[in-house]
Amino acid sequence: MKQLFISVALISLLGSGVAWAAEKPAGLVGTHGQSELSTQASSMLPLCASCHGIEGISTEGMYPNLAGQKVEYLVKQLQQFKTRERNDPIMSPMAEPLSPEMVNELAGYFSSLK
Ligand code: HEC
Repeated sequence: MKQLFISVALISLLGSGVAWAAEKPAGLVGTHGQSELSTQASSMLPLCASCHGIEGISTEGMYPNLAGQKVEYLVKQLQQFKTRERNDPIMSPMAEPLSPEMVNELAGYFSSLK
């Protein structure tokens, strides 16, 4: 049931992510250094934000806040999710497609949020 909910949430978010990337509402770009994200990293952001919040404050009790977290720590966690040294059924597949550059950029973005 939870899996189903997550897939439905992901599908609707991927849809809105595409719309978000295409439209780039003026209010969002430029805040918190989002404009410095590469196209690749910013295309992932709506997905990450669906659980961790666009302001880095998570949307649910089981999802950690990322705002203001140390960038080195966030990079390390994402690398470890990728290699499954830290294995989580939700996060490991999220981290898998991220390039090292995207890991750095997304970690930097969430770390920059206050
Ligand atoms: C479906 C919800 C969901 C999505 C989407 C998601 N995450 Fe997560 N994230 C989680 C959960 C749940 C955890 C905690 C995993 C655990 O318990 O080990 C987590 C943990 C993390 C952590 C480690 C935080 C800490 O305090 O150790 C980082 C960093 C992170 N996510 C980044 C991202 C990034 C970047 C993206 C987008 C590519 C993303 N997440 C997408 C749910 C999500």
